[in-house]
Amino acid sequence: MSSFSLFPESASTISGQVDALFFFMVGTSLFFGLLVAILVIYMAIRYRRRAGDTGAGAEIHGNLQLEIAWSIVPFVIAMVMFYWGASVYMTMARPPDDAHEIFVVGKQWMWKLQHLEGRREINELHVPVNQPIKLTMTSEDVIHSFYVPAFRIKADAVPGRYSTAWFEATKVGTYHLFCAEYCGTEHSQMIGRIVVMEPNEFQDWLSGETTVADAGSAMVDATRSPAEIGAELFVARGCTTCHQGAAGVMGPSLAGLYGRERNFADGRSAVADEAYLRQSILEPQSQILDGYQPIMPTFKGQIDEEGLLALIQYIKTLEPNEG
Ligand code: CUA
Repeated sequence: MSSFSLFPESASTISGQVDALFFFMVGTSLFFGLLVAILVIYMAIRYRRRAGDTGAGAEIHGNLQLEIAWSIVPFVIAMVMFYWGASVYMTMARPPDDAHEIFVVGKQWMWKLQHLEGRREINELHVPVNQPIKLTMTSEDVIHSFYVPAFRIKADAVPGRYSTAWFEATKVGTYHLFCAEYCGTEHSQMIGRIVVMEPNEFQDWLSGETTVADAGSAMVDATRSPAEIGAELFVARGCTTCHQGAAGVMGPSLAGLYGRERNFADGRSAVADEAYLRQSILEPQSQILDGYQPIMPTFKGQIDEEGLLALIQYIKTLEPNEG
C-alpha cells in the first residue's frame, strides 16, 4: 500500500483545472447531502410523537418564496457546474496550434506510438516537458482508451476513425498509461508509461538509434519518419499513376491539399483533414471530387492503420507549389 495514493499526481497544465472542478462538485454534493441528512435527523427527534399528542399537525398548503428559492439555488449551482465543465472541456478538446503531433494506434493488446521525426515506441511514450503534445489516435481492432491519470486525460481510440487528445506535461518524470476500455483477455495488461524529459534530453533521445522491434507491423523501421514511409507507400501502391504532380485527367493533384475545402460531384463539400484523407483512400467512391470520374480503387484491407497515418503525413507535406 506504500505506493497507493487517493489522487494521482498532478502533472499537466489541465490537471489543476480538472481537480478544481472535481473538488467543487464533490464539495457541493457533500455540503447539501450532509445538510439534508442532519435536518432529517434533527427534525425526526425534534418533532417526534410525544405522550398526549393528538397526532395531527397544522396543514401546509405551500410556500411560494421557499419553493422559488429551492428551485433557483440548485439551478444556479448546476449552471456554474455546466459552464465551468464546458470551459474545461473546450480547453481539453482544442489542441494548441504549436502542439507536437504523435500518432497512436491501439491494438490488442499494446499501444503503438509514432513520432513524426521517425522514432516509434510500444507501450512507452517519451515527450518533452512544457510542450503541448497532440495525439492522433485510432485502433487496429476494437475500442481502446488512452488514459493517463497524472495528466487527467482519457480518450477512446476507435477503429475506423481518428480521435484526438492533447496534454502538456509540467513535471519531468514517469507516469502510468492505462487502457481504460475493456478490450479483451489482456486488457488489464495493456499498460505502459509516459516518460517526460527535459527538452534537450528529449532531442537526444529523438535522434537516438535504438529501435523497438514490432513483429506485428508491416513496417518495422524506426529510422524513417512517417512522411518518408508514406512517400514510399505512395509509389509502391501506384498512387503516382494518377496523383503525381499537377492535376491530371485521372485524378486531382494532392499538392497543398491538406486543410483545403473540397467540393464533391454530388454537391457536398468537406475540409481535407485526416478523416477525409483516410476515407478517400479506403472508400474513394464515397466522395468524388467535382470534375472527376469515380475510377479510384479502394485500398481497404491493403494498408494497415500505421500505413494510412504515414500516407496522410506524406500528403500533408506536399507543398501547394510542388505540382
Ligand atoms: Cu485496450 Cu483495454
